[in-house]
Amino acid sequence: MKNICVIGSGYVGMVTATCFADLGNKVITVDIDEKKIEKLNQGIMPIYEPGLEELVERNVNADRLSFTTSYEEGLKDAEFVFICVGTPSAVDGEADLKYVRASATTIAELMDHPLIIINKSTVPVGTGDWVADIVSRSQPEAIDFAVVSCPEFLREGSAIPDFMNPDRNVFGSTNREAAEQVADLYSPLNAPTVITDIRTSEMIKYASNAFLATRISFINEISIICERLGADVMEVARGMGLDKRIGPHFLNAGVGYGGSCFPKDVKALANMALTHGTHPQLLSAVMDINDFQRKQVAQKVRELLGGSVDGRTIGVLGIAFKPNTDDIREAPALTVIRSLANQGATIKAYDPVAMENVSNEGHNVNLVDNAYAVAEGADALILMTEWNEFKNLDMKRIKGMMREPLLVDGRNIYDPDEMRDLGFVYRGMGRGYNGEGVPNGHTAEDAAPVAGD
Ligand code: UDX
Repeated sequence: MKNICVIGSGYVGMVTATCFADLGNKVITVDIDEKKIEKLNQGIMPIYEPGLEELVERNVNADRLSFTTSYEEGLKDAEFVFICVGTPSAVDGEADLKYVRASATTIAELMDHPLIIINKSTVPVGTGDWVADIVSRSQPEAIDFAVVSCPEFLREGSAIPDFMNPDRNVFGSTNREAAEQVADLYSPLNAPTVITDIRTSEMIKYASNAFLATRISFINEISIICERLGADVMEVARGMGLDKRIGPHFLNAGVGYGGSCFPKDVKALANMALTHGTHPQLLSAVMDINDFQRKQVAQKVRELLGGSVDGRTIGVLGIAFKPNTDDIREAPALTVIRSLANQGATIKAYDPVAMENVSNEGHNVNLVDNAYAVAEGADALILMTEWNEFKNLDMKRIKGMMREPLLVDGRNIYDPDEMRDLGFVYRGMGRGYNGEGVPNGHTAEDAAPVAGD
């Protein structure tokens, strides 16, 4: 049993603290946001993450997990301090490290015994050295410490299983013994372990996320080509994925990636490249393709409505950047909603979990409380987030409630033939010519030119 302090109660901090407690450690989470800590002490979660609430309750009741705004309290008995604060994008794409700096400075000022300080926040390559420098300079008197990079590979919506069953854990430090001590915290998970230097560890995180984002933009570029050549990108992805060297994951074409990680991390890595004298050609293309996917969805709706959405009512199913999360940061749905609203459309939308976040941010959208209410009176319907409940809707009823049966499937969750048989005019992403699906015997001559080409 170790004494662990976790700084930050966001997506990464909450899951890290709770899972370490569940592994039998004594964990204190520190956050300067008093409201968050107050709610946590009432058992109210600051984020939506499947399974988190029960796990927090179990470990709080077992006196292994507690929450405070006091760094002094958090550091008192700590042997390890995990920095899990946000590193948002600055204007030029560079990661903003103000919260990391503040945490490292406060830890240094208040620590009164040796500590291992772990950077779990996603930080630009070289930050570990920078944190060590801040701590050294901020300590009132010199006290031993080590800095270890330990990047997170948690997907929102499956963060707890991702923590408990990791593909690997990565540790980087100039102090190998410290890295091994942090690795020991994870030993109950019996996962492959990589122990390396700090910069390499930080780069593993960026390179991993950038590669996953590249796979997504790759299959999205293929989907764009499929629409012009009459191929079905879902079948293409299946055929590709059976090759062991390629694998089936992260080949789902659609409106592209969002969230608080891929957009930020790809931008930050490209920025690191640019500021260090090289041009990130592939990463630039990955970002451009991702941006285009959102534009494509709005273009398809406009095309189906005869070239203009002005004065039309458009229904949007799903706003969260992906299912099983309430996170709307960089959500493709918000880009599409903004674009169509700016062109004069009235937008109605529903999301099973993210509604509160949407209304708190004050977006130009009428939020309704279910999918059928979204469809009622709509001139077109767009599927933006592939929540399971949208896969089992009564689509006949949906069609009957719409003013026009126009359906744009941003995540390819519907069967084009089924939708057409129900009377929808269907557009997917890469589903044969123009995204209409690949009916048998479809030939190049039948392909209608795509409006706006
Ligand atoms: C990601 C990484 O997966 C995780 O390892 C890292 O620690 C944090 O960033 P996350 O952003 O939570 O996790 O979600 P993820 O499931 O990776 O999806 C990211 C985005 O890509 C979502 O918008 C999702 O809709 C999109 N996506 C994913 C696709 O468009 N196609 C795919 O095939 C897979």
